[in-house]
Amino acid sequence: MTSSFVIAVDGPAASGKGTIATRLGAIYGLPVLDTGLLYRAVGVLSLRAGRDLDDAAATAKTAAGLSADLLEDPAFRTRAAGEAASRVAVHPEVRAALLAFQRDFAGQAGGAILDGRDIGTVIAPDAPAKLYVTASPEVRAERRWKQLTAQGEGVSIEEVLADIRIRDARDSGRDAAPLKPAPDAVLLDTSEMTIDHATDAARRIVEAARARWTAS
Ligand code: CDP
Repeated sequence: MTSSFVIAVDGPAASGKGTIATRLGAIYGLPVLDTGLLYRAVGVLSLRAGRDLDDAAATAKTAAGLSADLLEDPAFRTRAAGEAASRVAVHPEVRAALLAFQRDFAGQAGGAILDGRDIGTVIAPDAPAKLYVTASPEVRAERRWKQLTAQGEGVSIEEVLADIRIRDARDSGRDAAPLKPAPDAVLLDTSEMTIDHATDAARRIVEAARARWTAS
């Protein structure tokens, strides 16, 4: 048995990975890290500091100065923050500055759950359980539109779909830790699933992985 039980939950924007990670955390009593929030924070805090999002060195400085107590800001949940996050996330320097925090979180003795884009491929390649959560761009756009509308952002579904397509292309096409399933990740397409159904499916995947991990 390897040291601790880590669940890696990766996937594109609004695929349901965050909700699934949170629910798995409640089921298994494991701490959950939404790693997208780190990139969102770097994007928004860089803009607030007047830093150019295309400037790798400047945005890496923001990343190096990030601490857990800075993460509780509703501004990080906006549409603009998602866009800023994916722009700073292309810089290897930014990713490197956020690596130790994520690896430390994953290394906790009791185990952990992390959701993001590169958890199963880069942050925790030895994680015993890996899920790649996806859904069609149209379904993801509708989900994200509902969230943004509930937060009071005035935006159309078409605009959200366009954002999602741009972000998918940028996240998958970048050289540094591109969005892609780890070879040993189990794919979970939630397009036709309610969140309860998706959580049940995720739980079954994790149970199978845990049985293998315990036996190893
Ligand atoms: O919630 P949503 O799926 O829209 O995005 P998020 O998980 O909050 O991530 C925002 C952006 O951060 C993504 O589009 C990625 O560009 C970047 N990100 C990343 O590169 N690596 C991660 N592990 C997590 C997020």
